[in-house]
Amino acid sequence: MLEPLIVANWKMHKTHLEALAWLQAFRKTCSKAFKTTPSLVLAPPFTALETLARALAEEPLAFPLHLAAQNIASEPSGAFTGEVSAPMLEALGVQYVIIGHSERRQLFHESNASISQKLKAALSHQLKPILCIGENATANAQGKTLDYLKTQLEGCLEEVETFVEEDFSRLTIAYEPIWAIGTGITPSPEAIEAIHSGLRDYLIERFGQSGAHIPLLYGGSLKASNCHPILSQKSVNGALVGGASLDAEEFARIIEACG
Ligand code: PGA
Repeated sequence: MLEPLIVANWKMHKTHLEALAWLQAFRKTCSKAFKTTPSLVLAPPFTALETLARALAEEPLAFPLHLAAQNIASEPSGAFTGEVSAPMLEALGVQYVIIGHSERRQLFHESNASISQKLKAALSHQLKPILCIGENATANAQGKTLDYLKTQLEGCLEEVETFVEEDFSRLTIAYEPIWAIGTGITPSPEAIEAIHSGLRDYLIERFGQSGAHIPLLYGGSLKASNCHPILSQKSVNGALVGGASLDAEEFARIIEACG
């Protein structure tokens, strides 16, 4: 069984000072350790990464809280105004990076091919990529979700032939239906299980045993009040939480529901 992983994706919310206030509130809420603590990852905006890394190093929590970036450049350095690269994140002690979020695909025109380059950049450094995939409402209504996701995976894992076993062990995949993100609507727990188990079969068929151990997260309108039946599904290995992670107490309640 894979250890559960819960990732908070703050998107473009919170200044570095607000991030510190969140951490303080989270510390208070989790002053007692959780019954069982899943692996925890926090993805704030770039501007809060260093502040949070320092605060966590100076006063660690009772359990590890790893940091993630929400995006990465495909190149290590150079004339790429506005970009942040893998070595820069690594130097800050960032361990994870979200790659190919649907907002980046839709608003910033990231393609499967460019996402594939970003995955390669993360893996060629010591970062653990969280690759996001998800279908739109039309594909879902037509019952084509799994085919849509497989096509996305094929495109994003274009460089997979160059992957070594260790690369697979650092990869996480997050299934986030676009129509569920920020809408308050989620697929039923049974529908999520069916997609996750279909993805697992595909990963094993495509990558052999390496595909059996890639954590599969669910994301999209997950909150404390709806997370238990979703996180209890056999093929769901954790969650990528957006809006509900902005409130430290709500996020702690989601972690509790994992236990
Ligand atoms: P949401 O976002 O939980 O606010 O729906 C999830 C995500 O986009 O990662």
